[in-house]
Amino acid sequence: MNDSFRALVVNKTDHEFSVKVQSLTLSDLPEGDVTIRVVYSSVNYKDGLASSPNGKIVRTYPFVPGIDLAGTVTDSRDPRFKEGDEVIVTSYELGVSHFGGFSEFARVKGDWVVPLPEGLTLKEAMAFGTAGFTAALSVHRLEENGLMPEKGPVLVTGATGGVGSTAVSILAKRGYHVVASTGKESEHEYLKSIGAAEIITRKDVTPESIPALGKQRWAGAVDPVGGDTLASILSTIQYGGSVAVSGLTGGTAVATTVFPFILRGVNLLGIDSVYCPMETRKELWKRMASDLKPNALLNYIGNEITLDELPATLASILKAEVRGRTIVKL
Ligand SMILES: NC(=O)c1ccc[n+]([C@@H]2O[C@H](COP(=O)([O-])OP(=O)(O)OC[C@H]3O[C@@H](n4cnc5c(N)ncnc54)[C@H](OP(=O)(O)O)[C@@H]3O)[C@@H](O)[C@H]2O)c1
Repeated sequence: MNDSFRALVVNKTDHEFSVKVQSLTLSDLPEGDVTIRVVYSSVNYKDGLASSPNGKIVRTYPFVPGIDLAGTVTDSRDPRFKEGDEVIVTSYELGVSHFGGFSEFARVKGDWVVPLPEGLTLKEAMAFGTAGFTAALSVHRLEENGLMPEKGPVLVTGATGGVGSTAVSILAKRGYHVVASTGKESEHEYLKSIGAAEIITRKDVTPESIPALGKQRWAGAVDPVGGDTLASILSTIQYGGSVAVSGLTGGTAVATTVFPFILRGVNLLGIDSVYCPMETRKELWKRMASDLKPNALLNYIGNEITLDELPATLASILKAEVRGRTIVKL
């Protein structure tokens, strides 16, 4: 049997770094219980890092990146899955230290596999992908900590990005007054079309000088930007409100004080999609399938590309040039 298929392979030698579509065989895939014919993947910021020479994500080359995949099981030694099952795999080691989703076939651990929930197609699942899952987890954690639409406006930073776009649309769908912060003046109409009630600039969120406590503006915030942006948000959260922080596009160091926490009871919620427990993971995917209107997300958020178009998209995501979510058809 000719078992060759196409995959995006990144390679690094002493002389060269390359990102190329190549032919692999099933025997090139890593160990795992479940083999999947990947139908869609998606592009995340972490994939951009994994495909750049100094991204500090990949340790062993050659490597197939792609932290998300959705497809059909072709072979399984795990009794929970059988040939023909439609499944989603995101997180864990996928696309980081285990060959990922930018490949027509993948082999993974059964423990990483989520059955595709009813009401969601493989394509819609990847329109959400890790970024969408992270946004859904952020909203879930904010609500667990008391956020509700009546409490006031919710800020989303990095709003045109993957996590930001999906957070805007999820919050709007759930009845929140969403204020989207963006560095892209050209994308205000797009942000309104996915549910933002107000648009503000990055400078509005992060002034040159950040007070220890500022005017109380936000009932909650979804922040995939971090850095000074997070410090500034913390000082402007309303009494008892929360910030769900998931990312670092604006930097890793956060210069804040204890005042928002001890004088306003502000909660700082860390969001990790990678090792989020499987029960919560399955529950959130079901919610994305049922109450978050995936068709609207697809219309507004998804750009579809092929494997051959991936290298250019991976380069542009690191320059903050990508809008919303990009899915990859395998
Ligand atoms: N914790 C987790 O489990 C998890 C999961 C997924 C992603 N993440 C992290 O979340 C972050 C966002 O991921 P993503 O997939 O949404 O990336 P993305 O699609 O590239 O979006 C990032 C957005 O951040 C904004 N931004 C970029 N540089 C900035 C800067 N210097 N200052 C302020 N804003 C800036 C831009 O939006 P505007 O132009 O609209 O401002 C950009 O579009 C990344 O750091 C990623 O690693 C974490």
